[in-house]
Parts: sequence; structure tokens; C-alpha cells
Amino acid sequence: MLSTEHKQIVTSTVPLLEAGGEALTSYFYDLLLKERADLRGMFNSAHQASGAQARALAGGVLMYAKHIDQLDALGELAGRVVNKHVSLQVQPEHYPIIGEYLLRSIREVLGSEVATPVVLEAWGAAYGQLADMLIAAEQDMYGSQAATVGGWRGFRTFRVAERVVESAEIVSFYLEPTDGGPVMVNAPGQYIAIQVVVDGAPLRRNYSLSAISDGKRYRISVKRDPGGVVSGFLHEHAKVGDTVELTAPAGVFQLVEGTRPLVLIGGGVGQTPLMAMLEAATHHGARDIYYVHFARNPAVQAFRARVEELAAACPRVKFALFYDEDPSVPGGLAPGRVSRELLASALPAERDVDVYIVGPAPFMTSVIKLLVELGVPADRCNTEFFGPHQEMALN
Ligand SMILES: Cc1cc2nc3c(=O)[nH]c(=O)nc-3n(C[C@H](O)[C@H](O)[C@H](O)COP(=O)(O)OP(=O)(O)OC[C@H]3O[C@@H](n4cnc5c(N)ncnc54)[C@H](O)[C@@H]3O)c2cc1C
Ligand code: HEM
Repeated sequence: MLSTEHKQIVTSTVPLLEAGGEALTSYFYDLLLKERADLRGMFNSAHQASGAQARALAGGVLMYAKHIDQLDALGELAGRVVNKHVSLQVQPEHYPIIGEYLLRSIREVLGSEVATPVVLEAWGAAYGQLADMLIAAEQDMYGSQAATVGGWRGFRTFRVAERVVESAEIVSFYLEPTDGGPVMVNAPGQYIAIQVVVDGAPLRRNYSLSAISDGKRYRISVKRDPGGVVSGFLHEHAKVGDTVELTAPAGVFQLVEGTRPLVLIGGGVGQTPLMAMLEAATHHGARDIYYVHFARNPAVQAFRARVEELAAACPRVKFALFYDEDPSVPGGLAPGRVSRELLASALPAERDVDVYIVGPAPFMTSVIKLLVELGVPADRCNTEFFGPHQEMALN
């Protein structure tokens, strides 16, 4: 239990962390990943390089310091963190390691005048309390995943059952467990983590499930990222019959059934969880569905035929596909830009809608801004980001 004195010290340190939190956590990550090569594969190399991971942790720690009494106060962030940690198999024994490096970083970055033994002790106790809360929530989630029909704990071996080229840069992989057992059905919008061994190093990445599982296999759809290690490996080397390791579906970005019109807005490969949502929404309920996708050009756009097929089979589906390089728009659209007119043309007249948005951070930020200008309530906009979530707000 944290003492009142510890709480006061931690709360009074918030302004200091707000000023220097990112520098502190960048230092922390550099130190951790330099000295603990065994943990490197868990972290996305691009997020490390961009500093996104450092900012995510800084955000988590700061929010915690502001609401030190309960994990609930971390609100939506706590659910996202627990789901991300469980997907990537963060374990209780990892917490003391992270705690040690965090305290060491506080000491080395802030210097002994600021980071006095009393301050370090208070932060050590606060970190311990946060760690205990996250560990408990994560253990609950590991338990409930294992108890679900077709669920499991840890990594499970899957075979590539089918590979489908979806566009010039996206390939779908259908993955079925080698043990022949059932797999738990994902909620539309959830992701798995995959582990592959590249040049002897085990690497983990999240991929959204681009379809609802039939209880026998999963589908992921992977964009080849130029210079990307895991996506490059999957595109070049993962053949039918090869095996990969998967963790069970996780993620709080999930389609909630309802009666309001549903609007799904994707940028590039951000369409993957939206495809699972689109399929699910055509099978259940009676709401109108608006699927809106922005891509650079038709060659790189996946699932166009599938969207057309679903719209032909289900009159509730309306769709709009936009291209940055559309020859019918003089000069094309500015890359990655979404105009208010374009978005308005794809939305229902009614603004009382539920919206799910996935794409690059600047794309999502401008879509939300435009939606709010167009009269959609901000709290109806649900997002997933293919990186640490706070990155979005910071762009
Ligand atoms: C919840 C979630 C769902 C996701 N769903 C999908 C999905 O459905 N489909 C999909 O394709 N992706 C998805 N992603 C993204 C995916 O997890 C990977 O991030 C993506 O495939 C790139 O991984 P990689 O190993 O190929 O690239 P990495 O090797 O991690 O590199 C990514 C990029 O960073 C650059 N880079 C790497 N290291 C450095 C460095 N040191 N300095 C500068 N630049 C560097 C690379 O050149 C590359 O362009 C999802 C991510 C999350 C978090
Ligand atoms: C109190 C301690 C911790 C806090 C506050 C914390 C916070 C966070 C936050 C905010 C994110 C981003 C979530 C998102 O939006 O996607 C994250 C991701 C992550 N965390 Fe933690 N974390 C903690 C402990 C740990 C530990 C002990 C590990 C194990 C080594 C760990 C490994 C990871 C990994 C691998 C990711 C995903 C990184 C990526 O996308 O590159 N975390 N954490």
C-alpha cells in the first residue's frame, strides 16, 4: 500500500515529469534495450526508433501519477495497455526489470539533487502499486483467454494454410493451429501477436484479424513495409505449410452492436479490422453500414471486390473508395489528406452515428476533426492505431 507521503511526493513530481517525461523515458528505453537484448524482440523496432514507445510509457506513467489511487482512473488507457501487454506476453517477472530501469533512469537523468532517495523510494512504491494492478488485470485476462472455447495461454503453433495476394502490397495469411483444435472466435476489431524467427532472433508483432474466425482458423492481412523486418519476412518467406507462433485474440477496439448507422473509415492497411467489422455487421442487426476507404491508388487497395460483393448481397451497405492518386481529381488529392467535402459525401445525412476509424495517425486526427465539424459527436469516434495509441494525440 502506498503511504500518504509517497502519494504526495509522486503527485508533486508530476510537473517535473510533464516537463521532462519523454526525455526520461527515451533514456530509459535506450538503456533497457541496450542492456536487455532478451526483451528487444517484444518491442516494435519502428516504435522504438520513432520514440513512440517512450512517449507511450511517459503518458502511462504521467496519467497514473495524476490519478494515483486506482487503475480505473487510467480509464480507457488501462484496458488498451493490459490488452497490448497480454497480446505480447508481458509477464509478472518482467515488471521488476522495467521498474529497476525506470528508477535508474530517473536517478541518472534528473540527477541526485532532484531524484533524492526519498523521491526514488516514493516512485519505487508507486511503480510497485501500478505494476501490481496491471499484473492482476493481465493474469485475469490470461485466465479468461485460456478458459474460452478454442482459447489458449502463451504462444500456440499455427500453420500457413493459405496465402492470398490482396493487392500490390498486401498479402493475407490464413492460419490454422497445428494441434487441430478449435480456435476462439475473435470480436470484430481485435488483433493477435505473431512471433517469427528472423536471423535467429524471435520477433513479435501485432496484426489485426481481417475476418471473423470460423472457429478453425484466422486471417491476417499484412502490408509489406519497406525495410520492415517481420512484414518483409512474411511476404518473402512464409509459404503454405510453414509454421508461426500466435497469441490469442486481444484488443479493446471492438465493434459494439447497436441501432445507429455504422460508419467504418479506413486509411490504407488500416482497413483490416474494419473488414472484420463490415462482415460482422452485414450478418447481424439491421443498421445501415457506411464503409469508407482511402488508398493511394487501386493497385495497392485490398478487398475492393469483397466490399462490392458484400454491398451487392446486403443493401444496408454503402461504400465509398477514394484515391490520393485518383486521375479524375485534377492533380489528385494531397497524399493522406481527407477533405471535408469528400467525407461529407460518404456519410449519411444523419450525424447520430457510430464511427470506427483506423489508419495512419495524421489521417485519423484529421478525420476526427472533420467529423466533429460535420456534426458527429466526438465520443462516437472509436479508433485503433497500429502503434502505441498515444502517438495519435501527439501528432
Ligand atoms: C494493434 C495493431 C494492429 C496491426 N494490424 C496490422 C495489420 O492488420 N496489417 C499490417 O500490415 N500491419 C498491422 N500492424 C502493424 C504491424 O504490427 C507492424 O508494425 C508492421 O507490419 C511493420 O512491422 P515490420 O517488422 O515489418 O517493420 P519494422 O522492422 O518494425 O519497421 C517498420 C518501419 O520502420 C522502419 N524502421 C525500422 N527500424 C528503424 C530504425 N531503427 N530507424 C528508422 N526506421 C526504422 C522500417 O524501415 C519500416 O519502414 C498492426 C499494429 C498494431 C499495433
Ligand atoms: C507500470 C508499468 C508499465 C506501464 C505504465 C506501461 C505502459 C504501456 C503503454 C501506455 C503502452 C502503449 C499501449 C498502446 O496504446 O498500444 C505499452 C506498450 C507496451 N508495453 Fe508496457 N507498460 C508497463 C510495463 C511493461 C512491462 C513490464 C513490459 C515488459 C517488458 C512492457 C512491454 C510493453 C510492450 C512490448 C508494449 C508494446 C510496444 C510496441 O508497440 O512497440 N510494459 N506499455
